[in-house]
Amino acid sequence: MPNVAVIGATGAVGDVFLRVAAEREFPFTQLKLLATARSAGKQLQYRDQSITVEETSEAALADADIVFCSATAEASKLWGPIVAANGAVMIDDGSAFRMQANVPLVVPEVNGADLEWHEGIVSIPNCTTTPLALALHAMTSVATPVRVTASTYQAVTGSGAAAAAELAEQIQAIGRGEPVPAPTVYPQQIAMNVIPQVDDFDEDGYTKEEIKMRNETRKILHLPELPVATTCVRVPTMIGHAETVHAEFDRPVDLGALHEALRNQPGIKVSEGLEDYPTPLSSEGDDLTHVGRLRPDPTVPDGRGIVFWCVSDNLRKGAATNAIQIAEELISRKLLKRS
Ligand SMILES: NC(=O)c1ccc[n+]([C@@H]2O[C@H](COP(=O)([O-])OP(=O)(O)OC[C@H]3O[C@@H](n4cnc5c(N)ncnc54)[C@H](OP(=O)(O)O)[C@@H]3O)[C@@H](O)[C@H]2O)c1
Repeated sequence: MPNVAVIGATGAVGDVFLRVAAEREFPFTQLKLLATARSAGKQLQYRDQSITVEETSEAALADADIVFCSATAEASKLWGPIVAANGAVMIDDGSAFRMQANVPLVVPEVNGADLEWHEGIVSIPNCTTTPLALALHAMTSVATPVRVTASTYQAVTGSGAAAAAELAEQIQAIGRGEPVPAPTVYPQQIAMNVIPQVDDFDEDGYTKEEIKMRNETRKILHLPELPVATTCVRVPTMIGHAETVHAEFDRPVDLGALHEALRNQPGIKVSEGLEDYPTPLSSEGDDLTHVGRLRPDPTVPDGRGIVFWCVSDNLRKGAATNAIQIAEELISRKLLKRS
């Protein structure tokens, strides 16, 4: 059984990671919980064990076979090459390596086979990309997508523990009738608001989050030219990213066939009744991508277009669960180098 280290164990994803690892009975010999010097000495609970958090260092990583990194881009860039040089594998939640040609970007139900060519670093996609890629992948058994547009409704835990605290403080101030504290995480107040900016602006008026969704979807689906346009919006929910997706295909598509493809796709639960749609609250705490409100898009000729709604728990399938599933897949494919 592998030795495991978790960089970022004290964060929003780290907290859920420990719960998901326990639920799935992820096998390991040793579990090290790492963060910065700020958190060194804190106690975290894994099942009935209390484990002391250590500062991330070369020595702390030396024995690890699998390193889960849910920290910052700087931490990923610093520790990734060191972990790979040790002959171990780093499964990275951040964006640092996702588009690097020798780094597989993996949703196991979609492209688990890409793990075969890993060189010591594997990336997991952005938490908005994973549900989109899963749903589109299911539909490729019916037809090939040729154009995709999506708008997101992203929960604040997607920006980490500090953002969740910011929303809670603003809601409490509003509830007490007091002035809302100035935002420190988001560019504007998030309570009672929606913010059409996730991450910094980058090229052609798109944000980095929107560009990540486009590029990562193409890489995971092996459709490098797929036209994808997205608008990423932060909304005042705590957990669960929702998306509205318009997809155009290379041929007319039958809604019944698409529903069946979605029903047959591991990792997806499809709601077929009109009012039986998923919401962030109803999807919180499970590992499935919930798809609903599938309907024709009358703006696309010849019955080649559809619209759907999907929701996924950003901390679980969007981060911790996907990372653990990748590790399980590495073990079952015998792709851990040292163990
Ligand atoms: N939240 C999501 O829904 C989600 C989804 C997919 C991917 N991700 C990615 O997962 C990562 C973590 O996100 P999060 O939401 O958990 O953030 P978070 O709540 O802010 O937690 C950050 C964690 O990283 C640790 N850390 C920060 N700098 C570090 C460094 N230089 N070396 C080692 N540890 C360091 C922090 O430790 P201290 O306690 O010591 O500060 C803390 O444990 C990010 O890359 C994010 O993009 C997040």
